[in-house]
Amino acid sequence: MRTKVGIIGAGPAGLMLSHLLHLQGIDSIILENRSKEEIEGTIRAGVLEQGTVDLLNSTGIGSRMMREGHIHHGIELQFNGRRHRIDMNELTDGKTIMLYPQHEVIKDLLEARLMAGGKIYFNVKDVQLHNVETNSPTISFIQENGTEVEQIECDFISGCDGFHGPSRQSIPKVERVEKQKIYPFGWLGILTETPPVHPELIYVHHDRGFALLSTRTPKIQRHYLQVDPKDDIANWSDDRIWSELHARVDTSDGWKMIDGPIIQKNIVAMRSFVCETMQYGRLFLAGDSAHIVPPTGAKGLNLAVADIQVLAKGISEFYHAGNEETLERYSSICLQRVWKAQRFSWWMTTMLHRNVEQTPYEYGIQIAELDYVTSSKAAARSLAENYVGLPMEFKG
Ligand code: FAD
Ligand code: DHB
Repeated sequence: MRTKVGIIGAGPAGLMLSHLLHLQGIDSIILENRSKEEIEGTIRAGVLEQGTVDLLNSTGIGSRMMREGHIHHGIELQFNGRRHRIDMNELTDGKTIMLYPQHEVIKDLLEARLMAGGKIYFNVKDVQLHNVETNSPTISFIQENGTEVEQIECDFISGCDGFHGPSRQSIPKVERVEKQKIYPFGWLGILTETPPVHPELIYVHHDRGFALLSTRTPKIQRHYLQVDPKDDIANWSDDRIWSELHARVDTSDGWKMIDGPIIQKNIVAMRSFVCETMQYGRLFLAGDSAHIVPPTGAKGLNLAVADIQVLAKGISEFYHAGNEETLERYSSICLQRVWKAQRFSWWMTTMLHRNVEQTPYEYGIQIAELDYVTSSKAAARSLAENYVGLPMEFKG
């Protein structure tokens, strides 16, 4: 088999790259080790930045999102039992965010790719990258139900295979510097069959730990609780989850959380991670394969889509103009944005989570930070412009 761009992973990064390349008349093949049903059913992110929404619309796959998603103009920060609204729309001269789940974005991208005859192999095994430092890298893999190793010859490989995929490991150790921070926090996420509790997301700081009230549809809501990252979900009965949510989010003026049936629950650990470089030879890492952020800033999916915009532009310039400038600067262009999203995600996480290792002095600073950001327009504007998404830059 031969293709111009071999893509490993059918997450938001891999699917969006294949879609953007197709619009430029550039063929690609995606290899994915899970089934279509599995990737369409994995519950993850919910918040799309303005730029991600604009990209989905301008490339013809935003219509269901515009019908079924929900535009939010602000968020609430809650501490000491009281809520404070950050009016993102006003603070960013009209920008907003969209609540539309990642797995719905995946479904829309998959449908567009498959309708256009895009090649995606699901349930593949043993994906390996070869000769990435040359101009003709290859990917070997075994098809679903197959036994023989097959090869795809490519001009470029894009590693969109998430944090645990094989692509990053194909960059020699001496060529990459990995920087990370592990947090002593985990998020217990639930989906619940209840009506929306509030028109906007509520990020809650509480002495018992952070909580986040989000939404999915008029009938299904998504909420999160800070827990020990090593905790077992089996320790969390539905009753325990609701009583902990009530303890953290009910407000001092008598507002109470609405509870009901929990239809899904799990715990994820939190880390910040950056791989420098994001490119080696003809291998380009994008999304979670190159960087991870803690979810508090709602940046992971959006950052993956931003990488892809740079990569698609670079590959398009290579084929259509014989120009390699953007590809040569891919890593430095992306890393500028990545580090700003790292900073914002770390800051939101540090400001909102309860850290048992915190000294009373540090706790005082944390509350002052919340007080400042909710009372100073300058500080609120900084939060808002990062939350809706910084402008795309193509110079590094
Ligand atoms: P992934 O989505 O991880 O996709 C990688 C794909 O590669 C997967 O389908 C995987 O099966 C495949 N793969 C892996 N190994 C192989 C292999 N060996 N061979 C072939 N295929 C392979 N981000 C936001 O922007 N906003 C949010 O609100 C938000 N909330 C979040 C909440 C939670 C609880 C979590 C866990 C994450 C959240 N994120 C959020 C982060 C976001 O979900 C990720 O950053 C995003 O999925 C990254 O996309 P990706 O395509 O880079 O990687
Ligand atoms: C959601 C997830 C996030 O990480 C976040 O910061 C906001 C919302 C969500 O899943 O809805």
